[in-house]
Amino acid sequence: MESPLAGRRLAVLGLGKMGGILLDAFLRQELISRDLVRATVHHEHRVRELRDHWAVDVSTDNGRAVEGADVVLLCVKPRTVRELAREIAPHLTPGALLISVAASVPTFVIEEELDGFAVVRAMPNTPCVIGRGMTGISSGRHANAEHLEITRGLFDSVGRSVVVDERHMDAVTGLSASGPAFIYVILESLAEAGVKVGLPREISTLLAAQTVLGAADMVLRTNSHPALLKDEVTTPAGCTVDGILELEEGKLRVTLIKAVVKATQRAKELMVSD
Ligand SMILES: NC(=O)c1ccc[n+]([C@@H]2O[C@H](COP(=O)([O-])OP(=O)(O)OC[C@H]3O[C@@H](n4cnc5c(N)ncnc54)[C@H](OP(=O)(O)O)[C@@H]3O)[C@@H](O)[C@H]2O)c1
Repeated sequence: MESPLAGRRLAVLGLGKMGGILLDAFLRQELISRDLVRATVHHEHRVRELRDHWAVDVSTDNGRAVEGADVVLLCVKPRTVRELAREIAPHLTPGALLISVAASVPTFVIEEELDGFAVVRAMPNTPCVIGRGMTGISSGRHANAEHLEITRGLFDSVGRSVVVDERHMDAVTGLSASGPAFIYVILESLAEAGVKVGLPREISTLLAAQTVLGAADMVLRTNSHPALLKDEVTTPAGCTVDGILELEEGKLRVTLIKAVVKATQRAKELMVSD
């Protein structure tokens, strides 16, 4: 399949954690060659180290980085997005596509600074680093089907993507962008539980992680409701149902629901207070 970046130049503004995860994947999968990439960071002292590490053009000059770029990836913190959009506005190539991965920042905020440019919002998560990410994508006012296709192509290269209405993007942030942290807490607890019942920690962690992976894959592959899959494991008067009763008593369901609700609420505020 042709790379979504074929024949295009890419600017990555904010080569931090998420910018690095995405650039690494695009380079490893040969979606783009290094000489067609320009990246930026804020601190001058980081430039040389990053240039050596990435072997791409890294600087602190956002204006120069976007000149000639067909796709511009905004990977800075939410509170910096508006200011950055204003800074690059006079340097953008007509027809450039702006993709923002910043939590909380609506596309209209970027469009206010970049009148007429296509803006797409994407909310990936850290498992993108191993190609198992999940990204929610929504389009701004001027983004068309081709812009969405380019964006999906990029994020499908690091996992899966889904297009949602922009009003759902904070919920995507609270569920799938924060979600890996919630699952790590669950995994850590399951592994600890294994140790409690006598398993060596390494084996316990393997059992827990592969079980979470297998259960998730069952939901995705069978398309069955999780409750039905749970019922298949739960034999009458067996041991699983006793475990489930403990989960219900400990309010696991309501706790997870509240965690996502809180994270979603907080996601709405990040643009002004991250
Ligand atoms: N981490 C996640 O799990 C995750 C998931 C989904 C979305 N996101 C979104 O990704 C964005 C970045 O998050 P992160 O975790 O990658 O943060 P990060 O590691 O702190 O990276 C931010 C980068 O932006 C650079 N930067 C700051 N101001 C800049 C400017 N004016 N011009 C150019 N570069 C600038 C910083 O440069 P210096 O290194 O010089 O400070 C840093 O490299 C956020 O908006 C976040 O909402 C993150």
